[in-house]
Amino acid sequence: MNDNTALISEIKSLLGDSEHKAYVRSFGCQLNVSDGEKIKGQLKKMGYTFTESEAEADLIILNTCAVRESAEDRVFGIVGSMKKLKEQKPSLIIGIAGCMTAQSHVADKIKQSYTQVDFVLGTSAINALPKLLLEALKGAKFSADITEYDDFSEVAEQVRDSSFKASVPIMFGCNNFCTYCIVPYVRGRERSRRPEDIIAEVRGLVADGYKEIMLLGQNVNSYGNDLDGEMSFPKLLRELNSIEGDFIIRFMSSHPKDASKELIDTIFECEKVAKHLHLPVQSGSSEVLRRMNRRYSIEKYLEIVDYIRGKDPDFSLTTDIIVGFPNETDEEFRETINIVKSVTFDNIYSFIYSRRSGTKAAEMPDSTSDEVKSRRMRELLEVQREVSSEHYKRFIGRTMRVLVDDTAKKRDGWLTGKSSEFIIVEFEGDESLIGRFVNIKVTDAMNWAVVGELISG
Ligand code: SAH
Ligand code: SF4
Ligand code: F3S
Repeated sequence: MNDNTALISEIKSLLGDSEHKAYVRSFGCQLNVSDGEKIKGQLKKMGYTFTESEAEADLIILNTCAVRESAEDRVFGIVGSMKKLKEQKPSLIIGIAGCMTAQSHVADKIKQSYTQVDFVLGTSAINALPKLLLEALKGAKFSADITEYDDFSEVAEQVRDSSFKASVPIMFGCNNFCTYCIVPYVRGRERSRRPEDIIAEVRGLVADGYKEIMLLGQNVNSYGNDLDGEMSFPKLLRELNSIEGDFIIRFMSSHPKDASKELIDTIFECEKVAKHLHLPVQSGSSEVLRRMNRRYSIEKYLEIVDYIRGKDPDFSLTTDIIVGFPNETDEEFRETINIVKSVTFDNIYSFIYSRRSGTKAAEMPDSTSDEVKSRRMRELLEVQREVSSEHYKRFIGRTMRVLVDDTAKKRDGWLTGKSSEFIIVEFEGDESLIGRFVNIKVTDAMNWAVVGELISG
């Protein structure tokens, strides 16, 4: 770890006394959002304040995602539109960070075609930000290529987006190489943070009044495999559960190949751990799962579901599904529809397969047309809508403990929050309840949320 103190004070004196505003926007998964909070932490140390308006900014950092082509296209569109901003304000500095930059063909494209960009900051190379920014402030362009993985977590000054919900990465990278996925290429191999650092961070957050702790990793179930000693994810959960205070623990994502009975027992035994599991199935066909290199069969997946539902038939599950994996047949897609109907997920996050250059699946023949893929996607969404509107009815009449997130978008005087089961709950209440736990008696169910009445704040 480099000590950036000297660089940071040089930047501070270069910026002088006038206010300098930074606009930092993160795309993609919560791990990337967490990196964005660390980028902001660094900028704050340099004296920057923050703005939500690109036009007002003296510094813009786009923290990008590469998981699907659409995510990349969006960023290219935004960077393109920033050419004008730079013409209007030549002193504006634009930096691109995050997963897109770890693909050399994308970094090259940015450097060659987007002259408004001043620097490219590699994934997890946040520690190099002061050096690159200083060079850019002095007028240099693309002064260095930073591509090494420089885990930043243990110095993490962060400017957190919320004052009551906190993301805590417990590990970085991924070893799984699902054939469709770019993440292992842009995030490197699995590295677990030391449990004592995680525990200290969570203790600090709880002492600061945080009510929800979201533990993050691409596959939390392999947490600790690379550490000396006996640490495992269920053990870590138990340790965190024993921290005193009124808070809820969530985690994401959990790879089915490593989801153990011990993990499930731990969820049931730890009162602070949310009663919800996000268990990405990706496809209902064992043959597609094999081509995806997921390393579980659909039978194995259903065994886990049965174990959970044997303990609680109403247990809340959510999942990710990819539609239109190369050469997915109609029959294979039917198997996915059947799984969605039989497991009854509370929510699915579904994506049309996107070809990622450099991955194994990118080399696989694919004769399924885009039109067929879109039709399958529409059908899947329709089926899920029916499943969830039926499934959500099980909550009617129950009392749910809800962490209040915000005011509801469409109804004046209403609030929105999430229950332990990760269900959106809407109810009438005062804004002063935001950031607090309340008890809500559920009166009605829709296909995306339940509604209820406040019974205690
Ligand atoms: N590590 C997590 C997933 C991270 S990416 C896990 O294994 O569960 C989040 C989701 O994006 C994945 O679960 C998958 O459904 C989707 N995804 C990843 N690569 C994709 C691609 N090339 N095309 C479409 N969807 C993809
Ligand atoms: Fe991608 Fe698979 Fe790793 Fe998840 S587990 S990040 S889908 S390679
Ligand atoms: Fe996207 Fe990178 Fe996350 S590719 S999903 S931001 S790890």
